[in-house]
Amino acid sequence: MKISVIGCGYLGAVHAAAMAELGHEVVGIDVDAARIAQLSAGEPPFFEPGLPEILAAAGATGRLSFSTDIGAAAGCALHFIAVGTPQLRGSYAADLSFVDAAVEDLLPHLAEGDLVVGKSTVPVGTAARLAERIEAASGATLAWNPEFLREGYAVKDTIEPDRLVYGVRRVGDALDARAVGLLDEVYARAVGAGVPRVVTDYQTAELVKVSANAFLATKISFINAMAEIAEEVGADVTQLADAIGHDSRIGRRFLNAGAGFGGGCLPKDIRAFVARAEELGRGESVAFLKEVDAINLRRRQRIVDLVVEHLGGSVHRRRVAVLGVTFKPYSDDVRDSPALDVAVQLRGLGAKVAVTDPQGMANARARHPQLKYRGLEGALREAEIVVLVTEWPEFRALDPVVAGQLVAERIIIDGRNVLEPAAWRAAGWVYRGMGRP
Ligand code: UDX
Repeated sequence: MKISVIGCGYLGAVHAAAMAELGHEVVGIDVDAARIAQLSAGEPPFFEPGLPEILAAAGATGRLSFSTDIGAAAGCALHFIAVGTPQLRGSYAADLSFVDAAVEDLLPHLAEGDLVVGKSTVPVGTAARLAERIEAASGATLAWNPEFLREGYAVKDTIEPDRLVYGVRRVGDALDARAVGLLDEVYARAVGAGVPRVVTDYQTAELVKVSANAFLATKISFINAMAEIAEEVGADVTQLADAIGHDSRIGRRFLNAGAGFGGGCLPKDIRAFVARAEELGRGESVAFLKEVDAINLRRRQRIVDLVVEHLGGSVHRRRVAVLGVTFKPYSDDVRDSPALDVAVQLRGLGAKVAVTDPQGMANARARHPQLKYRGLEGALREAEIVVLVTEWPEFRALDPVVAGQLVAERIIIDGRNVLEPAAWRAAGWVYRGMGRP
């Protein structure tokens, strides 16, 4: 199929390349000329495992091109909207200006029978509003097809999704079968492999996405709340998670206590959900998500407090090594990153903060040039305390004996509970985890 993908960020760039990998003819469109130049040269504008390979492979077939001109979408049968919906400044609500602008810009290039497919995460009700606009201004129709990809696994999640959700127009009692057919053609490989597929209306599809993220965020904050209690009584939240995780109704995944969740999705999506529910007069239904957010933000503060405590009450002019700036490993994304937040807070308290990260330094430096950016060894050298906040494999694999020879003081705060306390203590370190004795 001939497909356009509008918006080439973490979601759209991967989607465009993955669609080409699946055999479609794809044009990726973005207003950011530097990004389009990079993608056109086959260079991924961000770190995502597997993306360089599929960009190169698709480039070689000639099936994938990029453009800053929305006119390049003309002639495509299907148009994915994959632009961002960040949190509005000074509000919990999502900023829909990029989605609205993408649709408006696309309208003159749509032809009768085209299908516009929303992928961006939007407040429930957005698709119905956009569908009206699209149908009135062109002969095209709209579908909403939320994306569940995880950064770090985005290529795999796009090519082999664990489920497909199609939100399509309701025509009387029936759902738009033509849109379903087109989407089945796009995802023919996954559909053929028997991936579960839920065909529903716009509202349900929009809600599926936000409720999935709300559930995941709640699961993480639940275990972090248990960590707070565990800390109080000297219990071990990691063992607690293992034990309750054996109950298949609960499951062990997303029960890792620590610095909490960050990134471009979970934090802003739960806030936008709260804002939308309040608009709908149903604020009380998701009021618990405010608590989920508050528990999450307390974990960052807890790490800062532990650093202060272990340095005897003040971090002023003390050398702190922060391991990690990205919101999770296998990503260079520092949006709403607990790790970067901890580093910045400590710097704000007067500490001399040296940070290190295998992939996130350029993005972090652009936002916070006041921090010192170092290699792993450089960050550890002469540190008076070490704080691990993103569980990159190279940090998990740190040898406490070798690290002990670099630092000035052997104190480590394990903000992700990924180190072996006994090994670190045996090497002369004061080890402190999150919700562990
Ligand atoms: C998430 C959803 O998983 C994905 O389905 C959706 O499409 C977009 O949002 P992503 O933001 O890539 O994906 O990250 P994810 O792997 O979900 O992790 C989110 C955050 O939660 C990270 O900061 C991670 O460190 C944290 N986390 C995750 C925990 O603190 N504990 C856990 O047990 C799991």
